[in-house]
Amino acid sequence: MALLATAQQYSVKSVSWHAGIAGGGDSRYTRGMLIDRFHRQVDYVRLSVTDRCDFRCVYCMAEQMTFLPRAEILSLEELHRVARTFVQLGVRRIRLTGGEPLVRPGIERLARWIAAEPGLDELTLTTNAGRLADKALALREAGVRRLNISLDSLDPARFRALTRTGDLDQVLAGIDAARAAGFARIRLNSVILRGRNDDEVTALVDFALARDLDIAFIEEMPLGSISEHSRAEAFVSSAEIRDTLASRYTLVPATDSTAGPSRYWHVPGAVSRIGFISPHSHNFCHLCNRVRVTVEGRLLLCLGNEHSVDLKPLLREYPHDDRPLTQAIVAAMDLKPERHHFSHDEQAEQLVRFMNMTGG
Ligand code: GTP
Ligand code: 5AD
Ligand code: SF4
Repeated sequence: MALLATAQQYSVKSVSWHAGIAGGGDSRYTRGMLIDRFHRQVDYVRLSVTDRCDFRCVYCMAEQMTFLPRAEILSLEELHRVARTFVQLGVRRIRLTGGEPLVRPGIERLARWIAAEPGLDELTLTTNAGRLADKALALREAGVRRLNISLDSLDPARFRALTRTGDLDQVLAGIDAARAAGFARIRLNSVILRGRNDDEVTALVDFALARDLDIAFIEEMPLGSISEHSRAEAFVSSAEIRDTLASRYTLVPATDSTAGPSRYWHVPGAVSRIGFISPHSHNFCHLCNRVRVTVEGRLLLCLGNEHSVDLKPLLREYPHDDRPLTQAIVAAMDLKPERHHFSHDEQAEQLVRFMNMTGG
């Protein structure tokens, strides 16, 4: 039972052993589905391919960050093995994230391997687009179907201030390259902060509408300790953004549900959808379909909690036997928490993990 020692922070007794994978028994793995204790089916994995990033967005990172040494991170082959194992367990969608996934050498190769896995419905990727101008076509050809691109401002100086190092022109060139490369859908992600970019929401929507892009407005989440602003004071709710937009556009709620955290609205006559990701004002945890794997191989069961299982020792101790890895993933479903407890109260216990460690 060496496997049980891999469940971090939680009593090994809380991880039940599921013999079902090997054959029959009381398993959280039924007919090709990973199911947690709250009857949620996990069919989506966010796989972080690096903790590094060429930007330092003020809500995501501290200015000085220490990144993981190379020996600690999974190789491309190990990342592929993790992805393949999840697909064999019924996962249908994989999103590559970072840090910034395009700074990982070989990302196109990894994308090609994963996209070719039989049973996977779609491979997607979230990027800051700083390097997308050079990589968009290769990623599309490798089999990435959809892209989400962070864009918080259309003003070059402000963009630089929000990302600390980012160059808006490069990002806009990346967005153009992505549009030309033929992705099924491209969505912009905007984190809106009071006093920094809250006056740009209509400009960002106009930008998206003019290019047939979707756009999602994201409420900032308290992940990691940052210095540039008070997360409480900077908070802008999705409802406030929607009110601002409603004075200019007709917004019709979308009836089709997407399995993700974003709730979408349509502007009649437009291709674009306008989404809101509202972890504070509209909890969506009961619909959660996802888990995350960090580039160190830590399986995180929730963005807002530390419940995790270390998969790296299983990858390295059993290089030719996927069963321990498979069993650990199945058993981990019992650790998936019911919900996050994000709070604006800066005295409340906050997660120390930065978003770049988590993979968004
Ligand atoms: P889909 O893959 O299409 O569902 O997109 P997505 O919105 O999940 O992906 P993206 O990488 O663009 O993430 C946008 C924002 O949603 C990021 O800030 C994520 O951290 C946040 N997000 C994604 N999944 C979850 C989740 O399970 N819980 C919470 N609270 N936020 C999430
Ligand atoms: N809160 C909300 N969104 C965040 N992102 C990064 N850090 C945070 C945070 N603290 C967003 C980025 C990117 C996505 C993957 O996560 O803007 O679009
Ligand atoms: Fe980099 Fe994305 Fe974090 Fe910005 S939000 S610093 S682009 S990982």
